[in-house]
Amino acid sequence: MYIINIGAIHMAVGAGVDRLRGSEMGAVAPVCDAWLRIDGQGRVEAFGEMSALDTSALGTEEVVDARGGHIVPTFCDSHTHIIYAGSRDGEFLDKINGLSYEEIARRGGGILNSADLLAVTPEDQLYNAARERALDMISKGTGAIEVKSGYGLTVDSELKMLRVAARLRDTLPIPVRITFLGAHAVGRAYAGRQAEYVDMLIADMLPAVAAQGLADYVDVFCDEGFFTVEDTDRILTAAAAYGIRPKIHANELANSGGVQVGIAHRALSVDHLERMESPEIEALRNSDTIATMLPGASFFLGMPYAPARAAVDAGLSVALASDFNPGSSPSGDMRFVWALGCIKMRLRPDEALAACTLNGAAAMGLGSTHGAIRAGAPANFVITKPIPSLAFIPYSYTTPWISAIYLNGRHYL
Ligand code: NIG
Ligand code: FE
Repeated sequence: MYIINIGAIHMAVGAGVDRLRGSEMGAVAPVCDAWLRIDGQGRVEAFGEMSALDTSALGTEEVVDARGGHIVPTFCDSHTHIIYAGSRDGEFLDKINGLSYEEIARRGGGILNSADLLAVTPEDQLYNAARERALDMISKGTGAIEVKSGYGLTVDSELKMLRVAARLRDTLPIPVRITFLGAHAVGRAYAGRQAEYVDMLIADMLPAVAAQGLADYVDVFCDEGFFTVEDTDRILTAAAAYGIRPKIHANELANSGGVQVGIAHRALSVDHLERMESPEIEALRNSDTIATMLPGASFFLGMPYAPARAAVDAGLSVALASDFNPGSSPSGDMRFVWALGCIKMRLRPDEALAACTLNGAAAMGLGSTHGAIRAGAPANFVITKPIPSLAFIPYSYTTPWISAIYLNGRHYL
């Protein structure tokens, strides 16, 4: 199948490019006035400029006219918590009345509130709610997601969440990567006994998760008021024995040492980074760890935005993700994340797009197949409505711009 009259193809990269670092993020040349061919396997076969297209080659094939619309890869959302029960709209009022995220958590709300509800919610109901969220994200342009546990906080409930995640992976039309986040908060039964909770996590939860092969990655909420650097070190050491690599929450609420402990354990990514400063940027520069930033949480909680501009200027691989969860970012809309990356974090539109696509894919171990337009890779992309420029998308940030979505070469929407 051919797509012709494409205004520009963005994020077209060569074979072997599985992430972009620093200035590379804004240096992917668009292919303007272009065509693209999808092969019988749903992969991108080739693309090029219209002026060089031999129109006799179109033959009897299906031809889609993009009418000047652009092509961008589907978003790769590398940090979400979409499996949860109910919502936290009650705490929304506490927040409006001035309580901080930490204060709500200290009063026993927050993550523990979601855990209470999840424990009594049937697995099917959890699956259906999460599936609906995922399908909504796909309709907004997302083509790969990471999903975390972390509202279980008991062996049974964590396994329940991970089974739901596996079911999403097996049934959604996009790749799903699964992260075990037993160390999201100390479960209620262990109130005041954090070290014992970590002991239990290492002795009971982790072996069960590993034995059932339910997790691709392990996560710890390493931050002030949550888990310490020492807790994190213990958990990541234990996970490494099962060959499970970390992707951790770090430096959201304080400059907590999370970035450094993540790097020491070869984390695929360290995520949040609102309180990151030059030593953390320098440490990341000397590592392979991706700096994942979650501007939706800064927007919703009124926190500082992570220093994306400085990180890109320092040469880091920066990814942007939604952090979709009921407490700090009740939205999985990567279109908005892209816009926040530009408006609030001063990334240029092409840099922010790279952060939302290829670098997000890399932060899920999918960088060689997803998040870019390249020959041989699954044809996962969005065709936009006719737009004056790529910048128009994050600039005009509530204008609907998606015209069609292709997943594995098929017209999905
Ligand atoms: O990434 N910071 C920790 N975890 C989530 C929030 C989870 C919740 O409040 O339910 C986050 O922001
Ligand atoms: Fe998170």
